[in-house]
Amino acid sequence: MRLVLLGAPGAGKGTQAAFLKERHGLAHISTGDIFRYNLKNQTPLGLEAKKYMDAGELVPDEIVMKMVGEKLSEFAPDEGFMLDGFPRTVAQAEFLKSKIKLDGVILFHVPDEEIVKRLSSRAVCKDCGNVTSRLHNDKCPSCGGELYTRDDDNEATVRSRLKVYHDQTEPLEDFYRAQGLLLEVNATGHPEEVFKQVIALLSHDKD
Ligand code: AP5
Ligand code: MG
Repeated sequence: MRLVLLGAPGAGKGTQAAFLKERHGLAHISTGDIFRYNLKNQTPLGLEAKKYMDAGELVPDEIVMKMVGEKLSEFAPDEGFMLDGFPRTVAQAEFLKSKIKLDGVILFHVPDEEIVKRLSSRAVCKDCGNVTSRLHNDKCPSCGGELYTRDDDNEATVRSRLKVYHDQTEPLEDFYRAQGLLLEVNATGHPEEVFKQVIALLSHDKD
């Protein structure tokens, strides 16, 4: 199965991708994680991406499309994966359409104010990359590692990212709805409840 996980920053794409990976063995491609990995290793790609990420803006299409094109070429034609955080513009979606056939696009709906609240407490494990919330944990609940806050999770940058989502990424909802690929989820419940909806939609979609 080849899926796109679509939704505003903090909608829970990474959280649901971790469930789909762990329980259904689907490979997870997150463009944000690839940029952060490159930044940690101080590569030219990471340093270039940082300029945009810190401002809550999108990394230019040419850079992202080249990176994703290379990543996709690592997969065999029958291998499944989910794309998290790509595409984010109509140009990226057209590029993806020219490369692969998608089975579905899961759209996670969460109101903006709930997102601002979630991202003010998001924490990521330095050791295993697990995403969690400081409201419930001061160490990683998965491996006990130290938690850190992403540089782009301050309120001003979160509000810029939300604006960018509404202006540049939201048009993809109609783009995929018109192709009959959009599967919509109310993502405000507990993560396990959201996951149940995802699985129900995907099983229904296969029938
Ligand atoms: P990226 O890393 O993709 O960030 P994002 O899209 O802003 O999304 P997030 O990772 O912030 O949120 P998420 O939906 O994964 O939520 P999560 O599961 O963590 O991109 C970062 C930057 O890279 C972009 O701003 C851009 O600059 C650049 N970039 C990346 N891709 C690009 C592209 N294609 N084109 C151009 N530029 C690109 O959950 C959030 C929090 O909520 C966590 O604390 C979690 O524990 C909690 N949570 C999750 N689910 C629930 C729930 N159901 N109830 C309560 N809390 C929940
Ligand atoms: Mg994420």
